[in-house]
Amino acid sequence: MMYNSRISGTGSYLPEKQLTNSDIEKMVDTTADWIKDRTGISSRHVAKMSEATSDIGAASALKALEMAGLKVDDIDMIITATITPDHVMPNTACLIQQKIGARNVMSFDLSAACSGFIFGLSVADQFIRTGVHKNILVIGAEVLTRIVNYQDRGTCILFGDGGGAAIVSRAEENSESQFYSHHGHGEGRYGDLLMLPAGGSKTPFNQEALSKDEQFVIMKGRDIFKQAVRTMSECCSEALNANKMQSSDIDWLIPHQANLRIINAVAKHFDFPKDKVVIEIEDVGNTSAGTIPIALDRAVRDGRLQRGQNILLAAFGGGLTSGSLLFKY
Ligand SMILES: CC(C)(COP(=O)(O)OP(=O)(O)OC[C@H]1O[C@@H](n2cnc3c(N)ncnc32)[C@H](O)[C@@H]1OP(=O)(O)O)[C@@H](O)C(=O)NCCC(=O)NCCS
Repeated sequence: MMYNSRISGTGSYLPEKQLTNSDIEKMVDTTADWIKDRTGISSRHVAKMSEATSDIGAASALKALEMAGLKVDDIDMIITATITPDHVMPNTACLIQQKIGARNVMSFDLSAACSGFIFGLSVADQFIRTGVHKNILVIGAEVLTRIVNYQDRGTCILFGDGGGAAIVSRAEENSESQFYSHHGHGEGRYGDLLMLPAGGSKTPFNQEALSKDEQFVIMKGRDIFKQAVRTMSECCSEALNANKMQSSDIDWLIPHQANLRIINAVAKHFDFPKDKVVIEIEDVGNTSAGTIPIALDRAVRDGRLQRGQNILLAAFGGGLTSGSLLFKY
């Protein structure tokens, strides 16, 4: 007996403080207009020092549970997609489990950068589909400002803090909601285009690493831009082909929100009119694994997403990772 997955609830959380383009103008050699023109971003959120990824994840999770009408005891598994865990160990999912008071269930982090939330939903789908579990909490949350170099104008203009959550539940027999397909990719040969050099087993934090600013993200922006358009376009094609659908069959495209120009290039390629693309980058920026669940939650809560619509999620990120999920909401 195979079951269908549905998204029964969503939630998101953004820290209160905002960092505007005008603020960044005072920190590095750039202008507010340049940032807006080249990225579509006007401001991003910044977590307080007392706020960690697990706090963002827990706040999002509680909102998603409320929307789903579920109790915390109903959660059978917790997956947290993040590249900015509170600690390497214990994992952030366990910290969220404790913070929301969930049962003693399998809780783990998933590291796939900006594709992490889609990968998390696809893992959840396997456990729902096979009947092992009924409700899985999937979170994408980041505190990227802790790994951003505010002297590097190529990266500090892009990233912000925040996240979101979705509950993947077993669909009732008479429900039309279902996950149609998911695909994921990894291309290690492009790993050096976007990386965090220190803090892992290859280059542990030490004085030398810190003196070279290796605790901060480094990025080859122009190359990443090209790969982003290529991989997200390939992912959209793959999803449409696998389901014998055309772009006109999709009600909403929710792409990873890295740069408005990347989103526009992908949408143009598939003839997705702008009003069929959920774009929430302007006041949020790039929150890596957080962008898709934040955009999804906003679109659900303001009524853009309606039950019965076909939704296509597509993402790319450091790794390079990329993936898609096509589902009927
Ligand atoms: C970073 C990014 C905004 C730069 O925009 P761009 O239009 O590609 O700019 P380029 O890198 O081609 O640089 C053009 C010029 O602007 C300059 N520039 C870069 N950042 C700048 C800034 N913040 N302000 C002003 N000028 C800037 C460059 O130094 C370069 O100058 P040069 O021509 O004298 O060498 C863009 O490459 C990007 O968004 N890439 C993808 C990043 C991404 O998605 N990362 C996350 C992946 S999940």
